[in-house]
Amino acid sequence: MKARRGHPRREALGILARVEEGAWSHRLLASVQARLPAADDRRFLHHLVLETLRWQGALDRVVEPHVHGGFRNLDPLVRAALRMGLLQAARMDRPAAIAVSSTVEALKVAGAGRACSLVNAVLRKALLGGAPRLDAMQTIPAWIRRRWECRFGLDKARSIVRACLEPAPSTIIVRPDGPDRSEVLNTLVERGAEVRISHFHPLALEIERAGRRSAPQGEREGPWLMMDAASALVAYLTRPEVEGPIVDLAAAPGGKAALAAMLWSKPVLAAEKNPARTLRMAERFHRLAEACASSALRETETLVADATASCGREATAGVVLLDAPCSGTGTMRRRPEIRHRLTIEQIDHCRREQERMLDAAARWVRPGGALVYSVCSIEVEEGRTQVSAFLARHPGFIIEDPRKFLPLEAHDLVSSADVPLLETLPGEEGMDGFVAARFRRV
Ligand SMILES: C[S@@+](CC[C@H](N)C(=O)[O-])C[C@H]1O[C@@H](n2cnc3c(N)ncnc32)[C@H](O)[C@@H]1O
Repeated sequence: MKARRGHPRREALGILARVEEGAWSHRLLASVQARLPAADDRRFLHHLVLETLRWQGALDRVVEPHVHGGFRNLDPLVRAALRMGLLQAARMDRPAAIAVSSTVEALKVAGAGRACSLVNAVLRKALLGGAPRLDAMQTIPAWIRRRWECRFGLDKARSIVRACLEPAPSTIIVRPDGPDRSEVLNTLVERGAEVRISHFHPLALEIERAGRRSAPQGEREGPWLMMDAASALVAYLTRPEVEGPIVDLAAAPGGKAALAAMLWSKPVLAAEKNPARTLRMAERFHRLAEACASSALRETETLVADATASCGREATAGVVLLDAPCSGTGTMRRRPEIRHRLTIEQIDHCRREQERMLDAAARWVRPGGALVYSVCSIEVEEGRTQVSAFLARHPGFIIEDPRKFLPLEAHDLVSSADVPLLETLPGEEGMDGFVAARFRRV
């Protein structure tokens, strides 16, 4: 069954069904939202899709007992309708009758008319005693929760689960060479936005609510970069201390490379394996260079290359950044479907791929130069264990204390158990979960 286009609830059903089949919600939202003319509809669609995905585990527990024949055997569009209907009653204060009728109507328009009576009956039964209370702890699969409990302790694991249910703020990083952060804040507030200063990043502003006029949005990036504050802290670790280019080996969409170029007024060689992503990154650098009049960004080069392949430029780079592909568990607020698809095998696959990339990245670094490694994951295999294993395999590298490079505000984010790392958890001061290390080749 396929959803037709146009109306937010109907679009949400189509997106949720496709996400179950493996698509990414942020990509589908970007293309569908462009076709919705009303800003309210775009916001509603975004909220409905992300909230349904965030609360899916708990929604399923409520609805499953009411489906004879097995919830898992239903068409993805029908499962999506049941979750979305329930969510509206449980989390969006919609009266049960409205939550049911609007969902059934959307399903009908989506071309799944035959399933309407089933969805109507199941939702009515599930909502018979009023809006159900959803258990936040059921929103993260038990195996992931148990890993976090073992690693961080019960209380912290629970607060991470709750943080993964919160929408991530839009964070802007003001240009290091542009107007002062408080000046930008005042301008945004005058335009009606609700803005908060990040306590951990000297250039970051969190937009709680966009103003009516000139709301900062991705497409308006220019006087600022749109990126998470923790991700933007990693760029500070790329401070060059010896001659030689700054090379980013897994660069798209280019946030850290752009910020590094601006911070150090030095062009970056930004390599990326995926050609389409490389092209979009080159366009982004071009737009930013124009908006910021930054010669470092204008001279920043992009390149399609596999970071695991031999580089032919051994020991030439002053700084190599490897912001490696990872399980993404630090970004579940933005990518809620990660929790439903992740497997232990994938974490291990990521770990092995990161290891290969790290070994190849090490070959680029000249003596005295630095290798910066980061992932937006909070899994120990991809962070602390990966870093220790790299040091064991590469006696020619030592670990550096990130505090030497980070702004003062971020020093408390460095944990020095064993090896000193920049480590953030999802939701901590509005940031994503990240881990980053800086190695120096001696
Ligand atoms: C975490 S993202 C990088 C984000 C980027 N540093 C930023 O701040 O915007 C990882 C990137 O690595 C790319 N990638 C994956 N495997 C790669 C490989 N073997 N060589 C180069 N790039 C790769 C992915 O396509 C993805 O764009």
